[in-house]
Amino acid sequence: RSVVRVTGRALSNAVGGQQQVAAAAGGGLCLDEDPVTRRTFAEVQKERQEQAKHTVLINCPPNVNENKFLKYLSQHGQITRHFFYEGYGAHAVVEFLDRESIESLRSATSLPTVENECILPFKSRLFTLKSDSALGNVPVPCHRQTALPINELIQKLCKAQNIEEQAYALLEEYQLTDENIRLRFLVSSLIKDIATAYFPEATVNPYGSTVNSFGKLGCDLDLFLDLDDIQKRIAVKTTGPFATEYLIKRVPSARVATQRILSVIGECIDNFGPGCTGVQKILNARCPLVRFSHQPAGLQCDLTSDNRIALRSSELLYIYGCFDHRLRALVFTLRCWARVHGITSAIPGAWITNFSLTMMILFFLQKRSPPVIPTLDHLKGLAGKEDKHIIDGHDCSFVSNLNRIKPSQNSEALDVLLGEFFEFYGNFDFSKNCIDIRKGKEQNKPEVCPLYIRNPFEQTLNVSKNVNQSQLDRFVALARESAWIMQEQISQSVHKENTAWGLGTLLLPSVFQGIGKIKKKRKRGPASDRIKSLLDSLKTNGKAR
Ligand code: CTP
Ligand code: MG
Repeated sequence: RSVVRVTGRALSNAVGGQQQVAAAAGGGLCLDEDPVTRRTFAEVQKERQEQAKHTVLINCPPNVNENKFLKYLSQHGQITRHFFYEGYGAHAVVEFLDRESIESLRSATSLPTVENECILPFKSRLFTLKSDSALGNVPVPCHRQTALPINELIQKLCKAQNIEEQAYALLEEYQLTDENIRLRFLVSSLIKDIATAYFPEATVNPYGSTVNSFGKLGCDLDLFLDLDDIQKRIAVKTTGPFATEYLIKRVPSARVATQRILSVIGECIDNFGPGCTGVQKILNARCPLVRFSHQPAGLQCDLTSDNRIALRSSELLYIYGCFDHRLRALVFTLRCWARVHGITSAIPGAWITNFSLTMMILFFLQKRSPPVIPTLDHLKGLAGKEDKHIIDGHDCSFVSNLNRIKPSQNSEALDVLLGEFFEFYGNFDFSKNCIDIRKGKEQNKPEVCPLYIRNPFEQTLNVSKNVNQSQLDRFVALARESAWIMQEQISQSVHKENTAWGLGTLLLPSVFQGIGKIKKKRKRGPASDRIKSLLDSLKTNGKAR
């Protein structure tokens, strides 16, 4: 299948080698030809977390001599991996083989002397390298941690052979790199160090787009502070004729407990967390959170607690992302399209979110004939004992072993799927139907609201509750225009290298502005009718010439 060939080549070029390919995409991409790379989500997360525990972040002079730098650090132990990046100065991420090496580095590290200020002596795994003599003339080679600007991306897309290749090139440019994922897990591990000062058994896990295989370079870092293990241990501790219980504070609800804990951890991050700035406690949200910026890593972080279900939806998306190559290319392309045209936004509001858009894409793929991906109910049917997860009364079970899922019988090309996506939502009856990836079938909306996307696990929740009618109307109008453009682009076989074509056209806001103006004059109708009339008119024009 050309899909596999293009993906394999494009991704191998990006990171070099199958093993790294597996790691390159949102915590692990599973190529369907090779069962060895089909690791479960839990295995991938565990490995990343272990790596992060052995890792330090060092702010360096930009022209540090790399060899001398590595030799210096090797005094403390064997380095398994390192890379540099630029962000508020040059930084090195260094992974040691053993955690003792970090202790050795710590014992050789002094606290800074500052004049007219006082230090808060919280010693983390963030260091500053000082040197006058081990500097070279050239800057160290740095890994890019941000996505390519859209105009440069469009130029790059011009060079591809066809629309399918363009989509894979976009994926290759935008997806999180192995290095970026390492940096994200390192930040998670540094926040865990702060949380465990109060709650030694606490864990902090990344979730959302960092791990669900749909993360774009520059996306936020969603962190989950997990105190569940502590509670389990309290429940099982009984020995001999007596039992002891912790004397412990009580609060009226789990929500209040979450708010209190996040409030205190937020204070600690604000007061002691090296590199953590702009801490905001947003504790009255449906899902209370602490938002802050990790400046050295260049990451915007959202720390939450008590939303274990979101971890399951991250794993579910990961499963889908690994299941069929076309899916990630399609999601990245459509997320990019939505962002360029202001359908999604970095600012919270009445916009469609990336998560909602992804649900819509999954639903569309379940509706193809034959389906590209299975329904969530089908994945639940394949679940083994080890996959059983009931969270707060919600059944969140689904198969974790990718090898148990039969490959799709659908072999539609990516450009066809893209065009069909626009057609599908250009004509979808949003006023009557809701989107539900558990069933993969339209169902009546349970309540009045512009867009209803059922949360796959908490089935009474609407993932897109925030979306208002005008934002939905914009999405539909844009989908219709894009269906029209796609049809036109698919039919064109000759492309100029320096002019936007294919996806490039779809990502140019100016093209849509022009069409918007024509649109006002044109009679409205279903996109399929307009495509048909366009094709007819092209045929007529062709004959006239
Ligand atoms: N989530 C959810 N319901 C919502 C919003 C979010 O269950 N209405 C969960 C999803 O698991 C989502 C995660 O919270 O992946 C993080 O949310 P968010 O950061 O908004 O989405 P991401 O998937 O991380 O995408 P982005 O790249 O835009 O951050
Ligand atoms: Mg996110």
